Amino acid sequence: MRPDTRSELAQRLFHYLDTGTTAMADAMFRNPVAAYTSEERLALEKRVLFRQCPLLVAFSSQLAASGSYLTDDDAGTPILLVRSASGRLHAFANVCRHRGARVADGCGIKRAFGCPYHGWTYDLDGALVDIPGEEGFAGLPRHEHGLRPLAVVEKYGLVWVRPDATPVDIDAHLAGLGPELESFGFERWHHFETRTLRPRINWKMAVDTFLEAYHLAVLHARSVSPIFIGNLCASDAFGPHHRMIAVRRSFADARDRRDAARDFLRHTIELYTLFPNTVFVHQADHVEVWRMFPGERPDAATVHLSLYVPEAPATDKARQHWAANVQLALDAVDTEDFRLGEGIQRGFASGAQDHVTYGRNEPALIHFHRSLERALGVERRESA
Ligand code: FES
Ligand SMILES: [Fe+2]
Repeated sequence: MRPDTRSELAQRLFHYLDTGTTAMADAMFRNPVAAYTSEERLALEKRVLFRQCPLLVAFSSQLAASGSYLTDDDAGTPILLVRSASGRLHAFANVCRHRGARVADGCGIKRAFGCPYHGWTYDLDGALVDIPGEEGFAGLPRHEHGLRPLAVVEKYGLVWVRPDATPVDIDAHLAGLGPELESFGFERWHHFETRTLRPRINWKMAVDTFLEAYHLAVLHARSVSPIFIGNLCASDAFGPHHRMIAVRRSFADARDRRDAARDFLRHTIELYTLFPNTVFVHQADHVEVWRMFPGERPDAATVHLSLYVPEAPATDKARQHWAANVQLALDAVDTEDFRLGEGIQRGFASGAQDHVTYGRNEPALIHFHRSLERALGVERRESA
């Protein structure tokens, strides 16, 4: 983030503090409960959001060496990311062109991908280079049987894949957020750990968790609330994406406000929603990246939490420090937010109400659901 952006945000947040206010949306927003429970809505989201949007899959640094690869399956399309010998990053459908087996699992470094079924082999550029028992396939045009490429973009140290293979203009997609992402220098960051959760909630409810500070004082009374101020945030939209800043109590307590503004990061938490399914939580010295995916049913989600840190930990003490940060994040989000969400999801099935209401003091939440409706083509006129 640019220093002048931080100082403008600091002024805005001091104003909210002084006046007992917070960022407000234009109007309340009523969302039909069906957005979280309907099979049709889920199918539409999978088709539009998880095939036709660029999805953040990894940081470039996870695929630094040539031959490094990783697989990612939760969007519905099995994705294989590979760094070629020339340094170019490829994304392929992780599907053998013989009879469809997965050619790789997990992550690591390879010189080629040998299919575990009959041994067809692909090089790092996806070309089919070996067919055991080739006389059985005489005349098969090898060059037409390379791994199927998907659209991939590597920029700002981040990697996006669009599963339907349509080329991506990432800066157009980011709608002005690119320079801010660039300022983090993510290409130098180190992937510490990824943990996977499977809460029994709709995937959007997992995103919702991060999009308002209204619940901090009550739900997180004993965990997060002693550190952060509830119901106070700054909110800025970038196309369908969003930046929300919440503040620590230390920000309000700072005697010298110019110092607090200069030391903005120490006193705040910066949450970026990268539409449609990723949330960056930037705290003073690390970034949590939360990626949410729909499950088989509307009430099931897969959530990956990845912790990225400025440099690879060199000592046990450093490793323990980052492991404790992972645990802290899981303690609040999994044991408090997601458990509560599972109760909400069961309550939805009761038919007690046909809509939920997002308040004007929950602008990021409203922006997310408006952006979803726009992307899905299900916009409604009513908003309050
Ligand atoms: S399915 Fe891959 S070699 Fe047969
Ligand atoms: Fe929470």
